[in-house]
Amino acid sequence: MGKMTRRDFLRLAGGVGLSVPMAMRLPTPLMGAAGLSPLLTACGGEGDPLVSPHHNGNGTRFPLRLPEAVGVGDLRFTAAPTEWDLGGGLRAPVWALNDQVPSPLLRARRGDRFRAVMENGIPHDLILHWHGLAPPDDMDGHPRFAVAPGGSYRYDFTVDDRAGTYWYHSHTHEHTGEQTYRGIAGLLLVTDDEEEALGLPGGHREIPLILQDRRVDADGIPFFQPFGPAFMAGYMGTQALGNGVRDPYLEVDTGLYRFRILNGSNARIFRLGLSDDTPFLLIGNDGGLLPAPRTVSAVDIAPAERVDLLVDLRSHPVGRRVMLRSLPFPLSGGMGFMGGQNLQGEPLALLELRVAREVDDATPLPAALPPVELPDPERAVRERTFRFDSRMMNHFINGRHFEMERIDERVPFGETEIWSFVNESGLPHPVHLHATHFRVLSRSGGRGRVFPWEEGRKDTVLMQGFETIRVAVRFTAHRGLYLLHCHNLEHEDLGMMANILVE
Ligand code: C2O
Ligand code: CU
Ligand code: CU
Repeated sequence: MGKMTRRDFLRLAGGVGLSVPMAMRLPTPLMGAAGLSPLLTACGGEGDPLVSPHHNGNGTRFPLRLPEAVGVGDLRFTAAPTEWDLGGGLRAPVWALNDQVPSPLLRARRGDRFRAVMENGIPHDLILHWHGLAPPDDMDGHPRFAVAPGGSYRYDFTVDDRAGTYWYHSHTHEHTGEQTYRGIAGLLLVTDDEEEALGLPGGHREIPLILQDRRVDADGIPFFQPFGPAFMAGYMGTQALGNGVRDPYLEVDTGLYRFRILNGSNARIFRLGLSDDTPFLLIGNDGGLLPAPRTVSAVDIAPAERVDLLVDLRSHPVGRRVMLRSLPFPLSGGMGFMGGQNLQGEPLALLELRVAREVDDATPLPAALPPVELPDPERAVRERTFRFDSRMMNHFINGRHFEMERIDERVPFGETEIWSFVNESGLPHPVHLHATHFRVLSRSGGRGRVFPWEEGRKDTVLMQGFETIRVAVRFTAHRGLYLLHCHNLEHEDLGMMANILVE
């Protein structure tokens, strides 16, 4: 039950091959009105029934929720429809694990045994994936293991992963976007001796933060109803959520903070920056700590990417308010307009930091970070190319849609390879690989360089329009059937995913 076929999905999209070309032809008359950018004009367009006038324009903000972390020794996740307070008593229907949005914050130590039972009480098939971990393949949440409503799935494996900011979410074929959007996604923080020895900020100065955008109705309630152009650009909205709270704020003291940030959006890329230009000390990404800390004023973070940032508020006066926001940016492929559905690159206020208390905090900034073990491109024995193409609301890897049982690539265990991800369209694709991390070697076309937050190990890399990214890859954890896919969840659900057999 609850299985939507690809064809149903496209039917929901409002007609294959019609909506997208129409929408893409629309911009000319709408552009340039009143000197607004085409994107802003498009977003406020009254002709679009799904664009909401709600912007919470009164400036009210709501306290960020910081959930208690739970260990991974004996977890029970019950997935069920429920209601969630988005802030200020605004209750929204969600699908949640254990009635929490985001899903419970998990903390593990390297070497821990991870035991969990997931009970599926939502009206869809469901399976959970531990994004960034490298468990055995039957523990990885491949969609072939999805269980029907009323069913359950048992997880039992050892967390043998480097300290890092990982996460988990539903991975049901053709429903990952909807289920994640409705609330089935949470952070999974792993620590180890190496990380602990650094003495990084902890306790109330370590802030796990899931940033998401939501499309909301006139009452401010998020809804998931993609159509037409949303299947090209992905599903985006104008309402920011931080840890499931709309327009959040956080009271901080004059200390050194560690923000462990996940972009948990379906499609929206954030360019993070602070409104008073306080720099970030970037210390980690998807694969844990970077080889060395880097000072940056802005960081791009695509869906499923993570960054670990130190923010030094010690010279900020009490009373100061600083906004963490997503800065505007251009799309390198020139795909910025999609009939009002594509908000990619538009600015968004994310989290306001309110400096509330003066304290003495002598926590040192790390001068160096532990060495990172990375695949060596000199030792590569083979190359492979993955072409990502998007046309007419269809998304392909090497010309094919995902098929549950088809093996797309056979990759020998333990051998180093060079993979090229080639973007043949102007749409951004955050490319994600299960079961290992890769090393980004180069980017050509588009932005033409590798960024500081792409150093070290990555499991997801943002490929903007017409870029080619080369990575070095090696599977060293387990043999089995894993996945490579676009983490724009609408693209993934429409089949931009491939089965990788590590053998
Ligand atoms: Cu975060 Cu295959 O997914
Ligand atoms: Cu994953
Ligand atoms: Cu994509």
